Amino acid sequence: MTPLHARLAELATHGATSQGIDRGLFTAGEHAARALFAQWASDAGLRVEQDRAGNVFARLVGLRDDAPVQCGSHLDTVKNGGAYDGAYGVVGGLEAVTRIAASEPHPRRSIEVVAWAGEEGSRFPLGCLGSSVYAGLNAYHEVEALIGDDGESFDTALCGPHGLLADVPVRDDFPPPAAYVELHIEQGPILERTGARLGIVSAIAGQRRLSVVVQGVAGHAGTIPMRGRADALVAASELVLAIERAALEIGDAVATVGRMLVAPNQTNIVPGEVLFRVDIRSVDDARVVAIERSLRERAAEVATARGVRIAVETLEVRDAVPMETRTRDLVRRACLALDPRAIDVASGAGHDAMCIAQIAPTAMIFVPSVGGRSHVGDEHTAPDDLELGVDALAAVLSAAAAHVW
Ligand code: GLV
Ligand code: MN
Ligand code: MN
Repeated sequence: MTPLHARLAELATHGATSQGIDRGLFTAGEHAARALFAQWASDAGLRVEQDRAGNVFARLVGLRDDAPVQCGSHLDTVKNGGAYDGAYGVVGGLEAVTRIAASEPHPRRSIEVVAWAGEEGSRFPLGCLGSSVYAGLNAYHEVEALIGDDGESFDTALCGPHGLLADVPVRDDFPPPAAYVELHIEQGPILERTGARLGIVSAIAGQRRLSVVVQGVAGHAGTIPMRGRADALVAASELVLAIERAALEIGDAVATVGRMLVAPNQTNIVPGEVLFRVDIRSVDDARVVAIERSLRERAAEVATARGVRIAVETLEVRDAVPMETRTRDLVRRACLALDPRAIDVASGAGHDAMCIAQIAPTAMIFVPSVGGRSHVGDEHTAPDDLELGVDALAAVLSAAAAHVW
């Protein structure tokens, strides 16, 4: 087993469940994964620091130690997630930087690998949490006040036993990078279908996350006549179908209701309240806006027709992000040299690169996902493809560090 695989396998033991990996930000498993990364990086001779959002920075100090050439990804997972989403970019980044250090201990620019905190938004209601604070897109005081799905606030969790790492210096003046390159599994089927082993990411889809609360009237399931009910779940169901219809009709977009809470959630009670979240994405932002508009219009109609109250709140807006031309050209050159079948591919998934792209030239490298499967426990990428991705990343980081942009 190569060091890359051994490390991915070791990380996968932290937060392991019977169906995958559950590493919400500042949980025991996620903390253990972060601590392991900090230890590996420190053992490799990198300078390890963290900021108060929980991002961990590991730097190979170059001759010029200002804005680094940066790579990275995240160590948190979705519920019952896989071993590669995020972890691969962190461990692969560490492997690439270690390889560079072996041949060039003092590159022209510093090269840094970052484990961004809370990319998935699977515990606190904000995706790309750490990278968005670092990029100045969300103010720290907004993030501090977030309440996790388990009722604990970000601030309390950060200061608790699974928050910031002990013995790692905390700083808050990290400069924007000179360039950022994120290595990630594709999480979709396109590379596998075309036989490409490397993907040159063209753009990352824009996304919106919404929260919908439907307030009906709870009551006895056996006595309240069907006509005149204000059943919150039936109203919510109409909206779920309307969201699917809107995405299909508008086209080149996806929309998902992946989380729903029903209260009181009992067989013999007409549901009084339903809360659900909506995730809408497209590389064309206008389509995302159109689906949200359609949902809001339909919500108003359903509220009137069914005698319920419906509140729609936009939790998060991230516009589509094209990758930066020069950095993407470096990625293209490195990928084509290693795999003549490498292709351009858009990312339907969100990444920390979306946030870093707002402050620095940014590009991404993809490797194939077997069966296009991700956000599930059996997510897999062939070992040789994982290694090839690291080769590509190392080539891009070296080339970028040698440039002075
Ligand atoms: C994160 O992986 C996302 O795309 O939601
Ligand atoms: Mn990811
Ligand atoms: Mn993910």
